[in-house]
Amino acid sequence: MPCPYNYGWNNMSETTIENRIKPEVLAQPVYRVKTPAHRIKLNQNECPWDWPQALKAEVTDRLAETAWNRYPSLIPERLKVQLADRLAVSADQIIIGKGSNEVLQALFRITLQPLDVVCTLSPTFAVYRLLAEQHQARLAASPLSADFQVNPDDLSDRSAEARLTILCSPNSPTGTLVPIETIEQVATNARGLVVVDEAYADFSRVTALPLLERCPDLIITRTFSKAFALAGFRLGYAVMGRELAQEVQKGLLPFNVDLASQVAAEVLLDHTDLVEERITSLIRERDQLIARLNRLPGVTAWPSQANFFLLSTLLSARETFEGLAEQGILVRDVSGYPGCASVVRVTVGTPEENEALVQALERMV
Ligand SMILES: Cc1ncc(COP(=O)(O)O)c(C=O)c1O
Repeated sequence: MPCPYNYGWNNMSETTIENRIKPEVLAQPVYRVKTPAHRIKLNQNECPWDWPQALKAEVTDRLAETAWNRYPSLIPERLKVQLADRLAVSADQIIIGKGSNEVLQALFRITLQPLDVVCTLSPTFAVYRLLAEQHQARLAASPLSADFQVNPDDLSDRSAEARLTILCSPNSPTGTLVPIETIEQVATNARGLVVVDEAYADFSRVTALPLLERCPDLIITRTFSKAFALAGFRLGYAVMGRELAQEVQKGLLPFNVDLASQVAAEVLLDHTDLVEERITSLIRERDQLIARLNRLPGVTAWPSQANFFLLSTLLSARETFEGLAEQGILVRDVSGYPGCASVVRVTVGTPEENEALVQALERMV
């Protein structure tokens, strides 16, 4: 039977790239992050503080004692147990990936067939669209309101028949939450799996984890890249029901998590007091910074439950981005996202970095 997706396969004598690559991939722009030279980096929602040297030494000492010529554990069992203790779930409910991006990729890979529907919010994290397109799925995006809030009924309707629903909470780039009641409503009504991407949940202190007990189709993804300040290593995970976890694991290739990332995360999870302290400081900084920026003439900083927020000035988003870049401050121009034409996204930095941001904006407005 001819396959509807045999793009150019019958014309293989024409040896062009177009015949070899999926059209959905050819149509995608290359993923780029605008990165002019800068001294203050507020564009990727990382933790502004690196790990103390003593802690890094603990990681490198442990790595030095381990054989590098051997594969790491097939599945990082020790790390799973540490995470399970922290989250009060069982270790067999957890799967671990190279960043939550890899976990998301596995979820798309194991669920989607061409023309399946993926339901998301709009605007939201760009990787969902990228993955949906590469799996030849159709996107059903539920638009956020002008102040970036979810419309629960619209979302529920759109997700009902979706093979996969993916909700980012707090959402990027908006910083707004999907209310827990809405997540439960969606997870109850939807026929497919419902993923809640909680990359920034440490900063909202709101999690859908308790819903796992009564929503068997719910999956929660988390990352070590943000509050845990481990973006340089690549580590993320997902929590779900046991049986589902067994299937999702199949979407990850064997030995996906390298030794260094496993060891770094294991060491970090023995120092979560420091992580908690930093989260508390960043939440305080975020709230003070947003309040302060809103007192500047012509500046709007949107309320946020994450470690970043949206910002507009009387200038265009591009001019705001460039005006800050000229002063050495790198933010994210998200004006291409639906509903975000006039805004940039700013990561909360150290108190000194935030002070520099305020002063730079004072010079611009
Ligand atoms: C909402 C969201 N989800 C997932 C990720 C991916 O994180 P990582 O692959 O570093 O775990 C990011 C990174 O920026 C993000 O903003």
